[in-house]
Amino acid sequence: MDRLLLNALACKNEKRPPVWLMRQAGRYLPEYRAIRARHSFLEMCHHPELIAEITLQPIKRFGFDAAILFSDILMIPEVLKMGLRFEEGIGPIIDHPVRDYEGVKKLSHPDLSQELSFMSEGIKILKKELNVPLLGFCGAPFTVASYMIEGGASKDLRKTKTWMVREPEGFHLLLNKIADLTVDYLNMQILAGVDAVQIFDSWAFVLAHHQFREFSHSYIQKIKQGLIKDIPFIIFCKGSSVFAPEFVEMSPQAISIDWNADLSKLRQKIPSTIALQGNLDPDILYGSKAFVRQEVLRILKGMEGDQGFIFNLGHGIHPDIPLESVYTLVETVKTFQPLYAEF
Ligand code: CP3
Repeated sequence: MDRLLLNALACKNEKRPPVWLMRQAGRYLPEYRAIRARHSFLEMCHHPELIAEITLQPIKRFGFDAAILFSDILMIPEVLKMGLRFEEGIGPIIDHPVRDYEGVKKLSHPDLSQELSFMSEGIKILKKELNVPLLGFCGAPFTVASYMIEGGASKDLRKTKTWMVREPEGFHLLLNKIADLTVDYLNMQILAGVDAVQIFDSWAFVLAHHQFREFSHSYIQKIKQGLIKDIPFIIFCKGSSVFAPEFVEMSPQAISIDWNADLSKLRQKIPSTIALQGNLDPDILYGSKAFVRQEVLRILKGMEGDQGFIFNLGHGIHPDIPLESVYTLVETVKTFQPLYAEF
């Protein structure tokens, strides 16, 4: 297996930085849209062969240094039978949201290895076909909870934060429930063979600093401590440039940084034993080829010589990004010849 990503996660990479993109398997790819034209999103998530084929698509096209399992963080509300569906042009909808203590008490505790066996099967197929590491993933309890409470995507998480401030006990009960299920969810992926996992806390940025510690950080910690095997653990959150010092306490192998931060300056606050991943603004990919190259190089030069650097976006790639921009990004990273301090 190509070990570039694993070496960077161990902060021992002496070659060019590895590159992969959040949401690299998705609608910006014509080959993804071709499958999507024949299946609903959830059908695609439920079939091991489709999971494997879609995960492989961006690897075959661009030669990324890591694959990320095709699935969704909302598989947990789905197995809880909360009525998850994806509506064209709207996004996820959860027909039976949970909004109080009693509602949480009524939620079942399903056997995920049974309910989500299609994911394990997909992972096993992928492990035979891939020559780069496979990343498993999950949502952070706060982010998953927000969809379960709002009933879908929301601009301001008003219902979530209202519950949080009015009835913190019920809110904590829900977060605990999701954290317990997420431990099972990641362990199932680990047993099936993923090489590393990334946790997505896309909505953490709506929290004040002390709220973040109470309602997000503590549950991510709980999940990390529940893993059956010590494989690399990457934390991504929107707001990571603010919360990165809190993550250091958890000793993850890597922190994925959004695009607000200057990575090289942030590095001065993060120990060199923790890898940094990021952090190109995904909108840069709407720019010209020369502009994309210039902005990718800006990050590469800032992190030059850093043995724990992984190139990625600051958040997921948009569905209408031109393929040309992604080719330019990958080529710029792959042809970059970094100078390492030791050499
Ligand atoms: O990164 C990858 O390529 C792996 C697969 C992946 C998907 N979703 C596939 C997907 C991953 C890692 C996710 C994570 C995810 N899902 C997050 C956290 C990261 C982030 O982007 O903030 C969140 C919040 C979700 C929930 C979710 N799933 C939303 C809000 C949506 C709708 C918005 C959108 O982009 O359409 C989805 C749908 C979804 N998940 C798609 C894909 C490829 C598009 C579905 C389609 O084809 O219609």
